[in-house]
Amino acid sequence: MLPSRSDFPAGFTFGAATSAYQIEGTAVAGLSHWDSFAATPGNIADDSDGSRACDHLNLWPQDLDLVRDAGFDAYRFSTSWARVMPDGLTVNPDGLDFYDRLVDGMVERGLKPFLTFYHWELPAALAANGGWQNRDIAARFADFCTAVHARIGDRIASAATLNEPWCIAWLSHFLGHHAPGLRDIHAASRAMHHVLLAHGTAIRALRAEGATSLGIVLNFETCHPADDSPAAARAAETQDAIYNQWFIRALMGQGYPDAALEGIGPHLPDRWQADMELIAQPLDWLGVNYYTRKLHAPDPGLWPHAAELSGPLPKTQMDWEIRPEGLTEFLTRLARDHTGNLPLYVTENGMALGAGPDVTQDDRRVEFIADHLRATRAAMDQGVDVRGFFYWSLLDNYEWGWGYGPRFGLVHVDYDTMARTPKASWHAFHRMLRG
Ligand code: FCB
Repeated sequence: MLPSRSDFPAGFTFGAATSAYQIEGTAVAGLSHWDSFAATPGNIADDSDGSRACDHLNLWPQDLDLVRDAGFDAYRFSTSWARVMPDGLTVNPDGLDFYDRLVDGMVERGLKPFLTFYHWELPAALAANGGWQNRDIAARFADFCTAVHARIGDRIASAATLNEPWCIAWLSHFLGHHAPGLRDIHAASRAMHHVLLAHGTAIRALRAEGATSLGIVLNFETCHPADDSPAAARAAETQDAIYNQWFIRALMGQGYPDAALEGIGPHLPDRWQADMELIAQPLDWLGVNYYTRKLHAPDPGLWPHAAELSGPLPKTQMDWEIRPEGLTEFLTRLARDHTGNLPLYVTENGMALGAGPDVTQDDRRVEFIADHLRATRAAMDQGVDVRGFFYWSLLDNYEWGWGYGPRFGLVHVDYDTMARTPKASWHAFHRMLRG
């Protein structure tokens, strides 16, 4: 059973989250680097792409009904850059029409729109120009954000520039798991900096247009040493610096962490230090995505000299360990070490769970959510200003390199018929929020 709404303060925002490429379908959108990444053999577990996804482009009214009917206060969604600007530069008014209607649909249903400008589908034309490796991306991204803001900003409750810069830069340019699929320390290091420069440039441009309630969404993952050795501790510390400190430190004006600069520093763009002030724009809130922890062992190979090992805890369909206390730890650590009184939102937390014969049965997910809601509440009890919790995801959807296998949804999607079926977890939220 989920906790009750009254366990949280009045005004605490409960929401469900999605992203454009994972649910919309790409008709009438320009080509993005995810389309070409997905068209490359071996990149996606089931060789699928987002061309149809959940057909949210057409079925959005019933999807928003599901958000409202569960009793959620808010809906976190993203805008596809490739839909709004197919060539990365020129606004396509039809693309913006879609988001205009979608936001109206949220407002009509009493849902607060929580916008994320960028959740990973970079227009292919910009990718061909170096994408996040090219400093020019900062200005292009600010143009995209201001174009979206000009059309729908008047109805947006809250806006994040980017979703998960670690994934945009490191997972995609160093580990090669996401588009553009590079494994290159130079490319990755430049992306690690430019993604933050793009954020700062966009925040400044949006503020100049009068935008309010601006933030960014970062992902955090517990990095534990695989054993008691000093070498394992060092491996975990380096991974923690890259994953959990690089972005938040820069955003809060605390500079890049030394343990990460050791390997990344030599590849950063010239005069990167001069950008740090622009990167550290004042924010109105920070979004925290949290799913799991990883164990790290020393690796004699090249920097960062660390290898990821599988841990002993119960796991989700993604093989991710379930460790709710990590969420309490990150929320308290962020407030203590970095963000002070800045309001925090849990912008993503959720569990992939394969569908059984009865697709509505997902009691393990209900338990997962209950534990993470309690973990959020525990951080609040320790004085952390957490303002909301968004479940990832409203619908089963396209899970990037994993294709359509993992099911994160509160609502089951039949990918042949596109039928939506609320699961027990959707009903649990319904009881909690409407009960
Ligand atoms: C996050 C992403 C989201 C989804 C979940 C499972 O890293 O923001 O799009 O893939 O993980």
